[in-house]
Amino acid sequence: MSLLDIDDLVVEYPGKGWRRAPFRALKGVSLSIGTGETLGLVGESGSGKTTLGRAVLGLAPVSGGTIRYDGRVISTLNRAQRRALSDEIQVVFQDPYTSLNPAMTVEDILTEPLLVTGVSRVEAERRVRDLLDQVRLPADAGQRLPREFSGGQRQRIAIARALSRDPRLIVCDEPVSALDLSTQSRVLDLFIEIQERTGVAYLFITHDLAVVRHISHRVAVMYRGEIVETGDAATVTQNPEHPYTRRLLLAAPVPDPERQARRRAERLALLEGRA
Ligand SMILES: Nc1ncnc2c1ncn2[C@@H]1O[C@H](COP(=O)(O)OP(=O)(O)OP(=O)(O)O)[C@@H](O)[C@H]1O
Ligand SMILES: [Mg+2]
Repeated sequence: MSLLDIDDLVVEYPGKGWRRAPFRALKGVSLSIGTGETLGLVGESGSGKTTLGRAVLGLAPVSGGTIRYDGRVISTLNRAQRRALSDEIQVVFQDPYTSLNPAMTVEDILTEPLLVTGVSRVEAERRVRDLLDQVRLPADAGQRLPREFSGGQRQRIAIARALSRDPRLIVCDEPVSALDLSTQSRVLDLFIEIQERTGVAYLFITHDLAVVRHISHRVAVMYRGEIVETGDAATVTQNPEHPYTRRLLLAAPVPDPERQARRRAERLALLEGRA
C-alpha cells in the first residue's frame, strides 16, 4: 500500500449542449505515490494533468475507478468528509498572482487555515513565523500584502500556506511555470528541501521536462487521458520507451546549441521513421 493509490480512474466532464456525449478526460488512469516521494506528471497541454490533480483534491467528476489515500477510498467522500482531509492533502497552484487573496496580509493568509482548526491566535502566530522561516521569507513579511512581493516570493507564501497544516501530500500544479528560470530553480530547491525535512510527498504536475527531471523520483507520462509510461525519473527522461515520450523529450528546448542541433536531427529521423 502506498500513500496514494489511484486505480483505473475515469473522469468525465458533462457534454456541452443538447444530448452531447460527455467528454472523457481521464480514461482509466492508475498510479501510486509513496510517502516522501515525488511523482512527476508530464504531458502536453490538454492531456489531463490538471484533471488528475483535481480528482485527487476531490474537485473533478469521478465516474469510475478509485483513489485511495492511506488505504482509504477518498474518491467517494462527501464535502464535509473531504474537508476533514485537507490537513493531509494540500495544493499549490501555478499562478501566484491569483491564488492568494489580495486583500489579506500574509499573516492572515497563513493563520486562517490554522484558526479554523481551533489553534489559538498566539500559537498560530508562532507557527506563521516558523512557516515564513521555512520558506526563507523575512519575519516581517507577515504584515505585508501579496502584491508587495515578487512572483517567486508569492509562490513561497503559497507553499507556506500549503505547509501550514503539515500535509503528507501536496498536489503541485505547474507551481514554477510562471517564474523566470533562476527563480524556478530556487523554488524547486525549496520544494526538495521541505520534502527532505518533512517527508511530504508531491504529485508534481509540469509540462517542463527539465523541471520534472530535477525534482521527481518517478515520472508518469500522460497522453490524451492515459498514462503511457511510468518509471524512474532518469530512465523516463533520458531513455524513454514510448514514442510519445520520445517526441515530448525532443520537443523540449535545451540551452546548449550543439545538443539542440543533434536533437533536431534526431527528431527529423524519428519523423521520417514514422512516415
Ligand atoms: N471543467 C471542464 N469541463 C469540460 N472539459 C474540461 C474541464 N476541465 C478540463 N476539461 C478538458 O479536459 C481535458 C484535460 O484538461 P486538463 O486541464 O486536465 O489538461 P492539462 O494536461 O492540465 O493541460 P495544460 O497543460 O494546458 O494545463 C482538456 O481537453 C480540457 O478541455
Ligand atoms: Mg493543467
